[in-house]
Amino acid sequence: MDLRGEEMPSPEPNGEELQEVRGWLLEAESVLVLTGAGISAESGVPTFRGGGVEPGLWDRYRPEELATPEAFARDPELVWGWYSWRRTLVGDCRPNPAHEALARFAAGRRGVHLVTQNVDHLHEEAARNLGSSLLPLHLHGSLFRDRCSGCGKEWDVQPKGPHGTMPLPRCESCHSLLRPGVVWFGEMLDAGELDVAARLAQQAALTLVVGTSGLVYPAAGLPRVTLEAGGRVVEVNLEPTPLTPQAHRVFLGSAARLLPLLLDG
Ligand code: OAD
Repeated sequence: MDLRGEEMPSPEPNGEELQEVRGWLLEAESVLVLTGAGISAESGVPTFRGGGVEPGLWDRYRPEELATPEAFARDPELVWGWYSWRRTLVGDCRPNPAHEALARFAAGRRGVHLVTQNVDHLHEEAARNLGSSLLPLHLHGSLFRDRCSGCGKEWDVQPKGPHGTMPLPRCESCHSLLRPGVVWFGEMLDAGELDVAARLAQQAALTLVVGTSGLVYPAAGLPRVTLEAGGRVVEVNLEPTPLTPQAHRVFLGSAARLLPLLLDG
């Protein structure tokens, strides 16, 4: 089924379509995988806008109160309290079969690249567990990184914690407050990383888009870059998204069920 027309996608994966996309993946010299919160939902990481196994993160908190530079300037203890809660919650999560299928897929071949909007560590953990070199480019930063709000220096933080924040952490070099190494509302993405992501999207013979609402730019614009360069787009999501009409094939359902079918087959 070609979803760039009017038809709605079928709720069940179609064996012929799976086989066809496997063929596209086999012949592709370069594959870009773009992931969003949906790929980690079955690991227990709350999504941003619902649709996962947990309520969406923003269902309980107003982002403008917590995930902005203004909120941090106003009340760093409140912001750090929220991030340390999230570090503990996410640090206890493990990769699911979707992360593992991607890591396995990349272990056996060259030219597979991964760009994620997620700030969790689950792609890295799956790669480490399975001896794969598929490390993600974190377009929106990482929950497990501290960044100095003064000099910009960064440190990795162990997902396993502990994640207390009292007293508030300070930079070893310049003693300014540290902040979480994530992109907040109203902040720009790292221009160099965005360039790399756009180049990967342009080079990709196929971009596989997994578990993203397709609402947040510039990440949501990457599949269009692949299409305009003549590549294919395949989407995996629980439900149709604004990216669905661009996709050559769409598989509706859980990423943890569908990615092993698609990539291990
Ligand atoms: P969202 O929470 O907006 O969307 C999650 C998507 O995953 C939805 O389209 C769901 O239908 C889908 N989904 C949920 N569970 C799934 C599953 N088990 N299998 C497959 N799909 C599933 O998350 P993102 O699109 O990643 O940015 O959000 C993009 C950005 O919005 C985030 O990175 C964050 C937020 O603002 C920043 O923090 C800068």
